[in-house]
Amino acid sequence: MKKSKFCKRKLTSQKSSIEILWKLQNIALEVNLLKTAFIIPKGDFFKIRYFTHEREVPLCGQKNITKMKEKNTKIQSTGTIHDSIKYITLLSMILLFGCNRLSSEAKSTGDMANGETTPSVHYLSVPRDTGNVSVEEALQKRRSRRNYLDKGLPEAFLSQILWAAYGITKPERAYPSMRGGYRTSPSAGALYPLEIYVLAGRVEGIAPGVYRYHSLTHSLEKVIDGDMRNALRDAALGQEMIVRAPAVLLYCAVFERCVQKYGQRGRERYVCMEAGHSAQNVYLQAEALNIGTCAIGAFNDDRVRQAMKLSATEEPLYIMPVGYY
Ligand SMILES: Cc1cc2nc3c(=O)[nH]c(=O)nc-3n(C[C@H](O)[C@H](O)[C@H](O)COP(=O)(O)O)c2cc1C
Repeated sequence: MKKSKFCKRKLTSQKSSIEILWKLQNIALEVNLLKTAFIIPKGDFFKIRYFTHEREVPLCGQKNITKMKEKNTKIQSTGTIHDSIKYITLLSMILLFGCNRLSSEAKSTGDMANGETTPSVHYLSVPRDTGNVSVEEALQKRRSRRNYLDKGLPEAFLSQILWAAYGITKPERAYPSMRGGYRTSPSAGALYPLEIYVLAGRVEGIAPGVYRYHSLTHSLEKVIDGDMRNALRDAALGQEMIVRAPAVLLYCAVFERCVQKYGQRGRERYVCMEAGHSAQNVYLQAEALNIGTCAIGAFNDDRVRQAMKLSATEEPLYIMPVGYY
């Protein structure tokens, strides 16, 4: 994507861009044009990636946009995104709103002097919703893979794996409890009680560290600096595959989200069922990408909690290393 004329503003903080994304999504969803949008900070600028709805959207009573699947349209200075005044108006609103917000935040924080973005958030590349491997082939091939090659993982693969695990596929702003919308994994009451962390060891373009996955922005927020795979391996009965894998997913449960509505049934059944759904997505997506994973349930809860500095409300459930095999 190219720099937009409208976007020549410096980013001040990643937090502000996340807040802006919420607003952008609200505007976009209000006029029922966009499926979702990602803000991508690039140096001193930001760009917006958006996806159109798959269903038909009447535009100015003249044209229908039919089955516009996952369009990653360039936002250009001319604003010629689609042959539609409505789109241009929408995007102008979005961009102007975003820039105004950014510049006013810049003034209030005084961060603009060096123009640096906070390195604690990584915006993942846009995931695909097409591929060359059928569900049947992935199911047939699926195995728990433990012997990973000494090879880094492309960022796009990690992005795809996280999307498969818990990515948002249908934004929904009416219910804040959904925290963004419907996802690739089913969830009782659409309450999404899981939190997914990534231990990045050797992921291209991502510094070693522990990151929290944010479905809404399809981004990673760094929570611990440095490679923590050894510590997790030690907490997981020394299972060496955790260190061999270039990236490791750690599933945690925030039981309260589910228990509030479903009580003990939520705690004893639903949350773990949901981890299973999501983990199976990871297995199948990994097979489709020709990489491997293995579900790990054997670990010391307290040691994982300590090593990963989990909050009191988070319970570790599953570990899933990911890598070439
Ligand atoms: C809940 C659960 C916990 C598991 N924990 C571990 C584990 O700690 N270490 C491990 O090597 N494999 C673990 N596995 C993977 C199983 O060993 C594996 O699924 C089983 O041997 C069947 O092989 P397959 O997955 O290749 O079909 C776990 C699987 C599940 C479903």
